[in-house]
Amino acid sequence: MHDEEQPTRRGVLASALMGSGLVLAFGTLGAQGVLFLLPRRLGPKTRLLFAGRLDEIPIGGVKAVHDLQGTAILIRRSEEGFVAFDSTCPHLGCKVHWQEDEQTFLCPCHNGLFQANGEALAGPPADAGQNLSQVPMKVDEEAGVLYLEVKDVGGGSA
Ligand code: FES
Repeated sequence: MHDEEQPTRRGVLASALMGSGLVLAFGTLGAQGVLFLLPRRLGPKTRLLFAGRLDEIPIGGVKAVHDLQGTAILIRRSEEGFVAFDSTCPHLGCKVHWQEDEQTFLCPCHNGLFQANGEALAGPPADAGQNLSQVPMKVDEEAGVLYLEVKDVGGGSA
């Protein structure tokens, strides 16, 4: 009678293997769940967008390149190098443009004015301390080209 209630070596081993299998299965499932959620927490995906040759932009000049959402990115060249700005005005979202003669960016909606370095100079953006947003870029001096680091479109799963 007691023999039926006593665990056998084979039964203990089978239980241990089943328990290990369950731990492994749920651990793998949990890890997959974390990997599925993690990229969304790290922020939007970006990609490099070819923006042209360096010699296309004279010193003091600006070139507009559209990102993958269709927003104009204004790339400015100065003696110090290149800098890129989102053309979206930080006040209410109108589009700024470059004024070659004044070497400033102008937002026509409320006469928002920005210095060549993107700092607000006059109008509502200056009152609120809202500067133009810079867009990261990579300058490949050796190849003579530049790339913008722009938000990817689609936002599909990783
Ligand atoms: S939207 Fe540009 S100054 Fe108002």
